Amino acid sequence: MFFVLEGIDGSGKTTQTDRLEGMLKSKSGRDELVRTREPGGWEGAAAARKFVLDGGLASLWGEFFFFMLDRCEHVERVIRPALSAGKIVLSDRYTPSTLAYQIFSNPAIDSETAEYASRLGDMIGLPVPDAVFFLDVSPDIASRRLAKRGIKDRFDGRGLEYYKSVSAGYKRTMASWSGKWVEIDASRDEDLVFRDIEAEILSMLAVRSE
Ligand code: TYD
Repeated sequence: MFFVLEGIDGSGKTTQTDRLEGMLKSKSGRDELVRTREPGGWEGAAAARKFVLDGGLASLWGEFFFFMLDRCEHVERVIRPALSAGKIVLSDRYTPSTLAYQIFSNPAIDSETAEYASRLGDMIGLPVPDAVFFLDVSPDIASRRLAKRGIKDRFDGRGLEYYKSVSAGYKRTMASWSGKWVEIDASRDEDLVFRDIEAEILSMLAVRSE
């Protein structure tokens, strides 16, 4: 099964992915779980990740195609082989990130182009996650969390207005993931957030093994 965690920077995705990884490894066995992330979740991609996150691309479409390219390689080398072997894949970010950050948050992209971009993943056969857990947190809370942890790259330092537009971008992205999108109130305590996601995942795994 394929689970994805999504949210704006500072939504707590990485903390939750760490905890879910621990829980899934103890329930299903270490070798049954593949924990991964985008961008850069495949061997050899670390330098490309750093280059892009440090602001190395000037063109919006360059950025869009970079994230799509990164995803195609990630799917081919990591995600698809794991799913074919019957493993559980847990990814920190996937296609909704590109749609929220590069497409739907950008007022310069018209709705027809945005619609086309949002269909591209299906058109090229990218696997559809069984669930996308969207950690919903207000940009104010998220930016306070980010300020505490310090800015690591150019994407982290883009400021409150930017995150408001990405957050709105996620709400628009949601429409293309009907039945897969699970909204989680991530402004709450970390344990409560974890328990909600854990409960959803365990019930989906139980249905699969029936
Ligand atoms: P992430 O690894 O979640 O950040 P961190 O290292 O702080 O945990 O993601 C890095 C940045 O990349 C984040 O600001 C979102 C951005 N991003 C996009 O803009 N589009 C994409 O398609 C993806 C996957 C990430």
